[in-house]
Amino acid sequence: MKPRFRIAVIGAGRAGRLHAVNASQSISSAELSCIVEADPEVGNKVGDELGVPAFTDLEQALAGAAFDGVVIATPTFTHAQLAVLAAGAGKHVFCEKPMALTLDECDEMSLAADEAGVVFEVGFVRRFQPEFVEAKSRIEAGEIGRPMLVKSLTRGPGLPPPWAHELHRSNGMLAEVNSHDFDCVRWLTGSEIERVFAETANFKGAERGVTAPDYYDNAVVTLRFVSGALGTIDGTCPADYGYDARVEVLGTEGLLVVGQNQATSLLKIRARGAGEVPTYVSWSQRFEAGYRGELASFVKTALAGAVPEVGAADGRAAVAAVRASNRSWLEGRPVLVASESVA
Ligand SMILES: NC(=O)c1ccc[n+]([C@@H]2O[C@H](COP(=O)([O-])OP(=O)(O)OC[C@H]3O[C@@H](n4cnc5c(N)ncnc54)[C@H](O)[C@@H]3O)[C@@H](O)[C@H]2O)c1
Repeated sequence: MKPRFRIAVIGAGRAGRLHAVNASQSISSAELSCIVEADPEVGNKVGDELGVPAFTDLEQALAGAAFDGVVIATPTFTHAQLAVLAAGAGKHVFCEKPMALTLDECDEMSLAADEAGVVFEVGFVRRFQPEFVEAKSRIEAGEIGRPMLVKSLTRGPGLPPPWAHELHRSNGMLAEVNSHDFDCVRWLTGSEIERVFAETANFKGAERGVTAPDYYDNAVVTLRFVSGALGTIDGTCPADYGYDARVEVLGTEGLLVVGQNQATSLLKIRARGAGEVPTYVSWSQRFEAGYRGELASFVKTALAGAVPEVGAADGRAAVAAVRASNRSWLEGRPVLVASESVA
């Protein structure tokens, strides 16, 4: 029997626990080696549940456990340091989105992976979710002609974790929630985003006790692509009614819609826990297949020493678009994504 690919999951919060369960139970060619979690209570709980040891930092884990790759599922502001350390120790890296806070950090991470000859993959789960994968292949097959107009939205229930309220530690909701949309529209249209113009609003922050300056819980970004196509991305978190991710691509010869588009009623109301349309309750439920698929892809790519389906350049492009959008909102003007500086 071939040896299995051993994974250390770093960060055992919302995303990390899900990856740890998938590494432990869903991928036949992989096994969970250990948990690395700064909070020992959280780490030991998940470690005990999945029958693996828990360490409180990556250096300890590198010294005390054997593994081939890491899954980084810690707050965004820690990604670069952990990825560089893991790659430097010869470990393949799967990094949750957003890849990092700055383009400088993205460049450091991809250089470290290149120098070490390890695979670096970014967790853009929609690339592995069956209906999105089908959408991409049908666009590529020419079924809707050339993309002209793309609309992508993501809404999530509940407040993001406190570290994600602060713009300087997370790049805000556009990074935490809408990174997926920025990646998805680039992928589906096959074009880079050239220019963005963003507006944001804060409706629920004060009532939910958020005090971070620059916090926003709603955003709309207008996009112009290098190909000439146009688009919008919007986001809301918390949306309360449930988790909602939809995308529409209008091409020169047809319309492609991922998500609901039924001509059954002209008015639909979705409310907290009720309503006329059932909703997904969480991102982990909505993209269950995608989370298993992205980890399986990482393991397969690392075992084969191949090029990852979603690499550092994709992670960097989404960080650039998010930062340009935040700057557009803060400065009240359209911003060229290519003008985003590295720092
Ligand atoms: N793909 C998705 O749909 C999706 C969904 C949720 C979160 N995420 C991403 O996953 C990452 C984590 O988000 P989350 O919501 O799980 O956060 P979280 O706050 O729930 O969990 C983060 C965990 O990391 C631990 N941690 C912090 N620094 C650490 C370090 N240096 N070493 C080890 N552990 C450390 C914290 O103690 C915490 O338990 C973020 O990048 C986020 O954007 C992605």
